[in-house]
Amino acid sequence: MKFLCLLGLITAVLAGPGIQRFDGEKVFRLKPLSEGEVDIVRSLAGLPTIDLWKPDSFDQVHADTTVDFRVSAEDVPMVQKILKKSGLKYEVLIEDLQVMIEQQLDNKERSATGHSYTKYNDLDTINQWVVGTVARNSNLMSLTEIGTSYEGRPIYVIKISKETSQTKPAIFMDCGIHAREWISPAFCQWFVKETINTYGSDPTITHILDTMDIFIVPVINVDGYSYTWSNDRLWRKTRSSIPGSRCRGVDPNRNWNAGWCSIGASKNPCSETYCGPHVESEKSVKAVADFIRLHRQNIKAYLTIHSYSQMCLFPYSYTYDLAANHDELNEIAKEATTRLRSLYNTVYTYGPGATTIYAAAGGSDDWAYDLGVKYSFTFELRDTGRYGFLLPESQIKPTCEETMLAIKYIANYVSNNLY
Ligand code: ARG
Ligand code: ZN
Repeated sequence: MKFLCLLGLITAVLAGPGIQRFDGEKVFRLKPLSEGEVDIVRSLAGLPTIDLWKPDSFDQVHADTTVDFRVSAEDVPMVQKILKKSGLKYEVLIEDLQVMIEQQLDNKERSATGHSYTKYNDLDTINQWVVGTVARNSNLMSLTEIGTSYEGRPIYVIKISKETSQTKPAIFMDCGIHAREWISPAFCQWFVKETINTYGSDPTITHILDTMDIFIVPVINVDGYSYTWSNDRLWRKTRSSIPGSRCRGVDPNRNWNAGWCSIGASKNPCSETYCGPHVESEKSVKAVADFIRLHRQNIKAYLTIHSYSQMCLFPYSYTYDLAANHDELNEIAKEATTRLRSLYNTVYTYGPGATTIYAAAGGSDDWAYDLGVKYSFTFELRDTGRYGFLLPESQIKPTCEETMLAIKYIANYVSNNLY
């Protein structure tokens, strides 16, 4: 065992600080059915090498919760032993993460460099695409750098707007809050392309843009996203260093001023759901919050794109109280997910965050809602766990196409119900 560790260390040192490998790591799925089984699952939380994929923290595990987690190669036998001994039924969702990480980039044109809507693009490629696309479509688009991240990367807002003399109401959408959810930025890019390509031909898009502006943040958590390409494909948080802790990063969807850190979030900097030292401690979160505050009079809808789980969520997540316009939000989510399903029969669930996924405070959706944006939705895109965060590139196109139907429905609804 010691020898193996030493060997691992030597290989790691020889390989340099490059990209982390996941050979032999597995993703397990289990579903505790009783309180006793819940306790067994929660006891796994003590193992430092377990990375929870779903839900985000062990205190969100209850009887009947589907739990997906990643286990390091060396701990696989131990975890399997614990599970077998406990009698808990489990499933190995992913046999070898390294293999799946490599399979995820299955677009045949991979050798061709540069941007593609059907590939995962790294941050530099996305940023070049942002600047280039806005420049080529300056009649319909403009670009603002709303701030920089902890590590100094720019954070962009793309504005899609049919020029008129007066300010229009607006829809705000962001992608890439969580670094490893790669399908999210891919969707924002797709959305921009579709919107500019079909303005004038698609009646819904035309109507939306004739009445409203759209603000898009292609990647919020730029440091985290960049880190998933350079070092750790499965990184979730930001990359800020925390005084007094050896762990880095804050969960950027626990860092907003909405019941901050009261439930479903952790005060432990080593946790994947660390809420941060204070509200808006993350520069990337504060930049976006400042932008939305500045435009709060105009912003009528807030949309934020995550993965995975296939869900359309709306407030609240920090409390079990229902939103003031709960019934309306529920109807919108129902119809949006019906539209989405019509294309490839992809089934989504929907409802308030707290009861549909889990209670978790400090999220951007609840914050925007309480600021006065009464149409606020979080999308959890494909899939339901077969690939999880490692959704193959071959699914980018169908995922984006179906999601467009839901987003278009919501945008159109909002444009017809301006307040
Ligand atoms: N998976 C998302 C997260 O944990 C769900 C967000 C739902 N909204 C919320 N405010 N918790 O961040
Ligand atoms: Zn997420």
